Parts: sequence; C-alpha cells; structure tokens
Amino acid sequence: MDSSCAALLTSLNQGHACPALPMAAIQTNPLRVGLRQERVISPQCLVIFGASGDLTHRKLVPALFELFRQRRLPSEFAVLGCARRSWSDADFRSRMAEALADEVQQHPTAWEQFAACLFYEPVDLEQPEDVVRLGTRLEAIDRLKATRGNRTFYLSVSPAFYGSGCRALAAAGLLRDPARSRVVIEKPFGTDYASAEQLNRVVQSCGQEQQIFRIDHYLGKETVQNILVLRFANTIFEPIWNRNYIANVQITAAETVGVEERAGYYESSGALRDMVQNHLTQILALTTMEPPGRFDAEAIRNEKAKVLQAARLAEEDEPWKCCVRGQYSRGGSSLRPVSGYREEPGVNPNSTTETYVAMKLFIDNWRWQGVPFYLRTGKRLPKRLSEVVLTFREAPVHLFDAAGGSPTANQLVLRIQPDEGAGFVFEVKAPGSGMRSRPVDMHFSYDESFGEPSDEGYVRLLADAMLGDPTLFTRSDEVEAAWRLYTPLLELMEDAPWQLPVHPYEAGTWGPSAADNLLADDGLMWRRP
Ligand code: BG6
Repeated sequence: MDSSCAALLTSLNQGHACPALPMAAIQTNPLRVGLRQERVISPQCLVIFGASGDLTHRKLVPALFELFRQRRLPSEFAVLGCARRSWSDADFRSRMAEALADEVQQHPTAWEQFAACLFYEPVDLEQPEDVVRLGTRLEAIDRLKATRGNRTFYLSVSPAFYGSGCRALAAAGLLRDPARSRVVIEKPFGTDYASAEQLNRVVQSCGQEQQIFRIDHYLGKETVQNILVLRFANTIFEPIWNRNYIANVQITAAETVGVEERAGYYESSGALRDMVQNHLTQILALTTMEPPGRFDAEAIRNEKAKVLQAARLAEEDEPWKCCVRGQYSRGGSSLRPVSGYREEPGVNPNSTTETYVAMKLFIDNWRWQGVPFYLRTGKRLPKRLSEVVLTFREAPVHLFDAAGGSPTANQLVLRIQPDEGAGFVFEVKAPGSGMRSRPVDMHFSYDESFGEPSDEGYVRLLADAMLGDPTLFTRSDEVEAAWRLYTPLLELMEDAPWQLPVHPYEAGTWGPSAADNLLADDGLMWRRP
C-alpha cells in the first residue's frame, strides 16, 4: 500500500463521521483514479464562489449532501461558500437548510453533521485583499478540518469573471500545486470561438490543463455515460455503427419549461449557446467518436475532440439553409394560459433571442461521411425529453407486406431522460395467417432493471472534480471545436440576422413548421415521441 493510501486508511479509522470503507475501496490509489474503480475522495475543502446564487442551493449543496449521505465524502471535508454578501457561517448554514428543507426534514441527523462542514467567507474575487483573506481562511479550515491544503475551487459566478477569477486565485498562489488545487468552471465557457480561445489562454496561464474542470452537467447523467458503455462494451453495435448501416441520426433535447427567471442570462444566450454548443454537442461527440485506445480521460477526450473537428454544418457557406430558429409565443389553454417568450419577466418585448433551434450537420470522416445528423432543442415544447435516435438503412429487399405500407426502418433510441433507458424498433411477423410484418419496440429501462433512481449529474461531477478525474469534463480543444462548428451560424446571427429569422411557435407545440421542412426536404420526419 502506498503512503497516500496508508494516510487515507489512518484517517478513515480515526472515528470520523464517515464509517470505515471496505478494503477494496481503500486500496484505490486516490492519485490514480479512473472511471473503472470505486474511488475515494481525498481530504479537501470545496470552495464555492457565487455561494449566494441559485446554482449553489439548487444543485451544488444538494449534490454534496447526497454524497455525504452516501458516505462518499471524507471525514476531513469542508465547504467554504464565498460571495460578496456579508453572511456568517451560521447565515450560510441556515440559508442552505431553508433551501433544502425537504431533505433536512427527512435526514435531520445527517444534515446536522453535514452542516458542521459548511463555512462562509465574504469574498469579492476582484478585490486582492479579499483573496488574501480567503487564503488565510483556507489555512484556518485546513487546521480545523485537516483538509491538508487540498482544494477544489468552483466558479459559479457570472461568466464574465471566469478569467479574472482564475487570475486572482493564481496571483494569491492558490493554484500553485497542481496535485492539490483544481478549478471547476461552469458553462458557458466563452460565447463564441474567439472568446473561448481567449478564455482558454487565460485559464491555462493560471494553472495546468489537468487542473481545469469545464463542467457540462449532461456528462454527469448516467444515460449520457451509457452511450459509451452501450457502444464499447457490446459487440453487436460497433460493427454497424457507421455510414454503411446508419441512415441518419436525430438528437433532441426538449423542455416544457420556459425561460423562468433567467431572462438576464438567456436573452444574450439563446438556445444555440445555452443547449446546443455544449449539451447536444457532447451527446453528438459520444455518439460518433471512435473507440478510445484506452479507457482514460485523455484517450476519450482525444476521440471526442477529433470527431468534433470533423463535424460541420450541412451548408457551411449558406448556413441559413440548414438551421431553423424559433421563439415560443403565447399558448396553453384558457384555464392554464402560458406567456409567450417576449412577455416573460425581463425579456425585451421585441426580443429576437431563439428559444428553439434545429439544424443539420455532417461529419466528414470515414465512419460518418454523408450521414445527416439533425439536432433540435427548445423550451416550452409539449414534453420534457432528451434522446438520440439512430435510424438504420432499410432492408434492401421487401419480401413481406408491411402493416404501414412499407417496413419501418430499424431504430435504436437512446433515452437520456426522463424515462432513462433505450429501445430498439424492429419488424416482426404480425400474428395471423399471412406474412405481414409490423414494427415492435424492445425496451430497456434503468428504473426497471436497477430499481433505484440515478444520481443527479452534479453528484457525479462534483465527486469526479474532487477526485481530480477529468474524464467527464470538456478539454480546451473540445470546447473550441464545439464553438468553431457553430461559428457560421453565430456570425450570421450577428451580421445578417434577417437571414436566420426567429419563427414563432405556440407554447406547447413541437416548434416551428420550418423545422419540419428541414427534414421533409430529405424525405424524413422528426420522431414524435
Ligand atoms: C442548462 C440550461 O444548462 O440545462 C437550461 O442553461 C436548461 O436552460 C438545462 O433548462 C436543462 O438541463 P436538464 O438537465 O434539465 O435537461
């Protein structure tokens, strides 16, 4: 057993809040983590900048409490919330308890123990004296909680401060040790290719790439990770996972919610920057990448970056031909009316921000040449649903009468959410004396097979960041490739927005009809789940 494991074993046996773990888990070297093993988080302090913001109480602290209840946090652990407000530790604890009222009520003892790990320091990262005070507070926490100078800094602040935040931490010497300091950066990472490249330069001047964890919460979802397992742990899929067998691919992320209280951010973002450049593009990359040479962070991210570099809009020179933007207008029923986007609080009544976007892409490589990929996402659609649909080529000869006139092409549907699982549509003989075929659906459900609900994406990703495992985080070249892919559209939206008009669609419908035409031109239809 090496020294870090021995230290871990000692600390685990010192009777802290977390009970001793089984030997198999303890023997995992925390410095050499990978997706294969059950892993142990080293003693550390998680510092959240933007601790008074929405994400902290909606996602981060609930995820940490979940990790605590699953006994996956070390006993030498602290969370230091930082924001400009002059809260005390007690204020921070009681605000978090209020926000997590249901969980606190269900697990009062666990909450009491967990809350004792929560601390707060008023910090404005733009003020050097605040950052110096932060360093002193962290040293005090190291002494109090034995967190050993091991720190994960989570930037849940306005994206405008990502670069300056990293600079401030580096200037205070807080990123000096790559083995003991990491920075997690929320999306959006840049607003276009140039700004992402510039931000990458800044953050890489503050620390090493291995210290930078660009988060995309879709990568924390079991079903998104399952794309890799389904493809590379089974022999039946990989041989047909290419242009010879797959006719087209649709990737959908549909939401029923509107812009909610986020107009301030969303107005300058829109669906393309908010969902497509990150979440949908990550799903695209996992669906289309080559098998990695080994199962580790760099090998996987190499393949993702490579395939994104080969992706392009279907019509790069005339991008308006392969993309449709939409914006929800008033809808719902007389009993439950739903506001249009332009009537939402904080939205410009003449806004041309898209709440829906659909587009067609190609990937110019040996595996995918000529296969169209259709991506769509929208708010205020009829159903919350994210899925990948791979439609296979039709059988070359139709020997049987098909129930619907012609046989349905085989489809593999990877259901990301909410009904997590997968389905395969194929033709069978319809009962009766003739030889007619009919499509049926073979169905796998996470819920039915495993019984327990999967962890929220943030649970997985926070744990991985604290473990120093970057596999499920996006590397600088991936982010840049993703922005580069959409550059012709972003430029058009900036320079000639009339060429990419925002089509209104009624709230509660499947988006503008122009998006249907995008597929109809290819003789196809969006899957209507
Ligand atoms: C966020 C977007 O990244 O993802 C939101 O900013 C969107 O606009 C959300 O609602 C969707 O996430 P999920 O996990 O609910 O599909």
